[in-house]
Amino acid sequence: MTAAQKTFRSQVYEVLRPSDPTPGARRWRKIHLTVLGIGLLAVILLSIDEVLGPHRAFLRGAIWCVTIFFLVEYAARLWVAPEWPQMADMSPTMARLRWAASLSGLIGLLAVMPAVMLAGGYSIIGADAASVFCILWILKLGLHAPAFGTLARVISNERAPIASVLIVFAILLMSAATGAHIVERAGQPQQFGSLPNAMWWSVVTLTTTGYGDVVPLTPAGRIIGSLLMISGIAVLALMTGVLATGFAQEERRREYLRVWDQVTRVPIFASLGIVTLSEIVGKLRTRYYPARVTVLRRGDPGDSMFFISSGEVEVRLPTGGTVRLGDGAFFGEMALLNRQPRAATIATTAPTTLLVLYASDFYEIASHIPALAEAVENEARRRREENLERQTSTHPGGSKP
Ligand code: CMP
Repeated sequence: MTAAQKTFRSQVYEVLRPSDPTPGARRWRKIHLTVLGIGLLAVILLSIDEVLGPHRAFLRGAIWCVTIFFLVEYAARLWVAPEWPQMADMSPTMARLRWAASLSGLIGLLAVMPAVMLAGGYSIIGADAASVFCILWILKLGLHAPAFGTLARVISNERAPIASVLIVFAILLMSAATGAHIVERAGQPQQFGSLPNAMWWSVVTLTTTGYGDVVPLTPAGRIIGSLLMISGIAVLALMTGVLATGFAQEERRREYLRVWDQVTRVPIFASLGIVTLSEIVGKLRTRYYPARVTVLRRGDPGDSMFFISSGEVEVRLPTGGTVRLGDGAFFGEMALLNRQPRAATIATTAPTTLLVLYASDFYEIASHIPALAEAVENEARRRREENLERQTSTHPGGSKP
């Protein structure tokens, strides 16, 4: 394989890579989602019997096009599989087989099944065939959900509390079903005569769905039902709490790793020891800005300061001049130190990653780490003097400080 071919393959890989932040990859994801949406819409419309002949032909044509699109995409993904860093030490064939057997490979394969069915002469006129396409394609939507990995981690991390809640759920379900079976079966043998039937009522009540198809009629049955509904709300609230806390913790851990990665690029932190650094990392947040976006405006209240991990910003000074700040620089410190509104407007000139430090955390860190506070203060003083100098040179008569 030539170097040029290799480069082209790695370029295609970058565009197809999930959650790649480059504009090309974003554009690709938008196109993919649009095609997927068109395909699903065509499938849904085709399943309506009232849709007339000429429209049906058009919809079938759309499904063909979407299917071929997915086939080409599958082939491209298979081709670029050796570019995955996890497969770097494998032969290209082995890497392709590994990708084909992975979750995204299997979902991709399922999505091209309609193409195989069409090629094999299988009719797509029937509503059943259309519904099958819908199931196969909707799975592809899952590949666009960046939080799927997080969800899996959260479920794995919180498996003990989740299992406890499920056990409570099972205990309530079975106790209520058995109780209702005992007290209601004489009056409603059809609905409560067997435990599975009573369990259906129990699940519908416990999840607070309440279809109303089966209702207890005896006073004892109604008491059981009432207790079950209240318990249902408590169990669902418990599960929501467990998952929400798990998500928040997982996100905090991921953010910590992201910040840790970025913080080494900021020289002001470079000399700090690992313990001090870890304290700061816990307080910083990453923020990504595209080019030409205003980060802060002159006159706004200052609630945070920023460190540039990568990219560049332009400081638009009140005197009319501009200053550019690049990798490793910081800004937004003057408002925090002087407790005054922002002294200048700042906008990105290129895609920029910033680390944000909120005012309360800044004051806390400044009190712990005097060297850091001093470095920030010195730079703020230098900037203030520079601005004053610029002001006097622009308006030599002006006496305003
Ligand atoms: P703050 O006043 O909070 O918000 C605007 C920021 O622009 C300010 O903090 C400084 O960080 C930054 N700034 C102001 N003047 C200059 C300058 N002369 N050079 C570089 N940055 C500046």
